[in-house]
Amino acid sequence: MCGIVGAVALGSDITPILVEGLQRLEYRGYDSCGIALHMDGALRRTRSTSRVADLKALVSRDALAGSTGIAHTRWATHGAPATHNAHPHFSGRPGGQPRIALVHNGIIENHEALREELRGAGYVFESQTDTEVIAHLLDHLYNDDLFDALQRAVRRLQGAYAIAAFCRDEPHRVVGARNGSPLVVGTSESANYLASDALALAGTTDQILYLEDGDVVDLQVGRVWVVDSEGRAADRPVHTVPAFTAAAELGPYRHYMQKEIFEQPRAVADTLQDLDTISPELFGDAAYKVFQETQRVLILACGTSYYAGMTAKYWIEALAGLPTAVEIASEYRYRTSVPDPSTLVVTISQSGETADTLAALKHARRQGMENTLTICNVASSAMVRECKLGFITRAGVEIGVASTKAFTTQLTALFLLALTLAQSRGKLDDAAEAEHLKALRHLPSAIQATLALEPHIIGWADTFARRENALFLGRGMHYPIALEGALKLKEISYIHAEGYPAGELKHGPLALVTEQMPVVTVAPNDTLLEKLKSNLQEVRARGGQLYVFSDTATRIANEPGVHVIQMPGDYGMLSPIVHVVPLQLLAYHTACARGTDVDKPRNLAKSVTVE
Ligand code: G6P
Repeated sequence: MCGIVGAVALGSDITPILVEGLQRLEYRGYDSCGIALHMDGALRRTRSTSRVADLKALVSRDALAGSTGIAHTRWATHGAPATHNAHPHFSGRPGGQPRIALVHNGIIENHEALREELRGAGYVFESQTDTEVIAHLLDHLYNDDLFDALQRAVRRLQGAYAIAAFCRDEPHRVVGARNGSPLVVGTSESANYLASDALALAGTTDQILYLEDGDVVDLQVGRVWVVDSEGRAADRPVHTVPAFTAAAELGPYRHYMQKEIFEQPRAVADTLQDLDTISPELFGDAAYKVFQETQRVLILACGTSYYAGMTAKYWIEALAGLPTAVEIASEYRYRTSVPDPSTLVVTISQSGETADTLAALKHARRQGMENTLTICNVASSAMVRECKLGFITRAGVEIGVASTKAFTTQLTALFLLALTLAQSRGKLDDAAEAEHLKALRHLPSAIQATLALEPHIIGWADTFARRENALFLGRGMHYPIALEGALKLKEISYIHAEGYPAGELKHGPLALVTEQMPVVTVAPNDTLLEKLKSNLQEVRARGGQLYVFSDTATRIANEPGVHVIQMPGDYGMLSPIVHVVPLQLLAYHTACARGTDVDKPRNLAKSVTVE
């Protein structure tokens, strides 16, 4: 979602760094953007409801330059995506020149009460945003020390925020604060930076400090000073993050999504890390005890991560015999459920910052379920900090909004969890463990072989690009894969797509089947294959066009109305991880054929840090 970059430098113009930082944050999703600089003793800004490239052109047209500034990409929550709502917001004494420039990620829950109070103090609001409230509050509390004013301002805020601000009267200072929304500090000899994601600073600095909730930071050249929520000096260690520059480069690929699909063999191999034995320690030091206590599993997640959880339910129940519930985080957090302290609560999140998943986790803990585990791709995230146990997937930075390599690495980690829980319950003997490990080690090459199907899939994509609806069918553990295939297609090509368990076809969706409705089917050779074949007959009998991903043993032949791509092998229980890959490619090439913005689909955000 929204992105922040801020910088204070020794004399040099930081405008290119701010703009480039915004470009690196574009992947998070946004609908407007803006930049403000300290220039000739005044605040100057430009904002755009178009892309960062447009903002860059405006910056150069207006010859904006300065050594202190902040920039932002906004994903609208309060107020439409319009220029007057775009950040940075300015404030100053009523009737006077602007004095404060501020950007914000998150949501301020008490913005209405504060707005009334500040209106009473004479401030005039130009936007519908909750952010402008913070800018005026900061100005209201300002008494020649911006850092002090921000510390006092955040005490009045309820909700989630990451803030960056600077002041006309203190030209060599940028301040920031975080609570519930990510914010990092980048340091170098000649400048210091703020960003909502270390990736924004790739190529600028690899020296990163992660702020914690409640922190307020003062940046000047040669000085980074952090205080915690109690106002005490806080020592936040500097981490070196060398891998970021490479992650941000597109290389020979047309889009990040394509790059990330092709990175999956490597990402899965890195996640497995030469694993030669299954043991609870894979999930943390306390895992042995926690797994012994576990009587049931509750998985909480959103979006693609939720579909990974749905797949895991099949594995955990089949291998470990533990009852497993999977819930959409935004639903679970608000419903009355029946807590059981012997539950292992598992959150799944690529970013580790998804607001609903974090809130659902806290809700579960408040209900007495303290045994928590996260499968997460970001080791420094709030999710990892909040959970007792964790497994870090090693997908690397994922930039395309539509999740691909994060999903397959989550599935890999979840299969390891199912095996480990089975072992803890005495349900995994040595021979079975060796067999599963062998299959896991083969997984990267199985995915690699599947990627070679790309030319066939491009052939199908041309047809899909001319349709407005599609159905995706699967059975058993491939039902969540059908859901994920449909989600991928709708997210990036804007074709309406639905995933269904094939057995449900005649309970509704069959009414939609015509020649214009392609029906994609995930059809591996498993125990449900014969049932699935009957379901496919139901589609064919009504003139529906079938697009089937079978495998070597499935024996479904190409014939008029039945288009088959044969997967290179038979992958047993790991089949969902391999079968999702051609569905990712189908969505990707269909979107390319339709000419959509694949990596930044309209209205969507990569990291959903608000409710
Ligand atoms: C957004 C992203 C999805 C992602 C979901 C959950 O909707 O666009 O790709 O699956 O959030 O995100 P998380 O970071 O918690 O996995």
